[in-house]
Amino acid sequence: MNRIVTLDEFILRRQKDFPFASGELTGLLRDIGVAAKIVNREVNKAGLLPILGRADRENATGDEVQKLDLYANEKLIDCLKNSGECAGVASEEAEDIIPFPSVDGKASKYVVVFDPLDGSSNIDVNVSVGTIFGIYRRISAADGPCQIGDFLQKGSELVAAGYVLYGTSTLLVYSTGRGVNGFTLDPTIGEFCLSHRDISIPATGNYYSVNQGYYLKFDVEMRRYIDHCSDLNLRLRYIGSMVSDIHRILFQGGIFLYPNTRKYALGKLRLVYECNPLSFIVEQAGGKAITCQLERILDLEADHLHQRATIAIGSPDMVEEMREFVLRYSPR
Ligand code: AHG
Repeated sequence: MNRIVTLDEFILRRQKDFPFASGELTGLLRDIGVAAKIVNREVNKAGLLPILGRADRENATGDEVQKLDLYANEKLIDCLKNSGECAGVASEEAEDIIPFPSVDGKASKYVVVFDPLDGSSNIDVNVSVGTIFGIYRRISAADGPCQIGDFLQKGSELVAAGYVLYGTSTLLVYSTGRGVNGFTLDPTIGEFCLSHRDISIPATGNYYSVNQGYYLKFDVEMRRYIDHCSDLNLRLRYIGSMVSDIHRILFQGGIFLYPNTRKYALGKLRLVYECNPLSFIVEQAGGKAITCQLERILDLEADHLHQRATIAIGSPDMVEEMREFVLRYSPR
């Protein structure tokens, strides 16, 4: 029988690969792992506790009922704040950056961006949701509070990124720029255990993932490409939680698209919290991620925290094929 390797053990082993590592990044990843376990516990009892529904309701005892995405947001902030390894965070649930006071006079080198619970409309109907995170080395002076510029770095500057998928089992997938590994939570011992080593995305696949309900609102080149996927008899899968949809594609091959629509002229998904971290993971696994206007996602400049981007991400051959459709059919 193979020996179990826990997330903590794996992270510590990997730290030795970086000769000058101080352990901060290692500590941060562990903090995120702890937050993921806490969020997982709540997600799993979402139907039992009064944590479903709107955040402005009150429960029987008059306490404010907290929506699960706000709960996840709070837990991530708590876990990252208390360890002193993180100089501040930017969350999809918060308007501005949240700088942290230093703990024991420690000058933290890193900031974290996250979407605490992606696909939250799925929670009330018991469908998979996820947490997405990215870690940047700060560029502001380490002896002061972190600055907005620390969070608006290009995705290519990420030092680590990952996601947690709360699905049929709970999985944490992350990369520090040296491949991608996945860990499944073993609820009997409360540990994430290495289950998917050196994940590599298939060059092509049988799945395409797009909200086809918006078909008529897409530009002509995207409609042509979607027609092509349908002509090839590819299987359409769309969960409505980017983490879950991309997770399938990472393992089985395919393409995920969220193009611009009439409603979302710049795309819907957030560059900083969603597109960059997931593009980092997919590229690390050998895939590609570009906008529907053909720029590499990780090269995009972010002007503000909640900036949106269009995205085509997944198996490299399929993203390239989509690129050809755009070049051939775009009137621009
Ligand atoms: P939210 O977290 O607000 O539910 O948004 C989910 C995101 C993303 O995960 C998903 O792929 C996309 O929005 C779904 O959007 P549509 O409903 O427009 O297809």
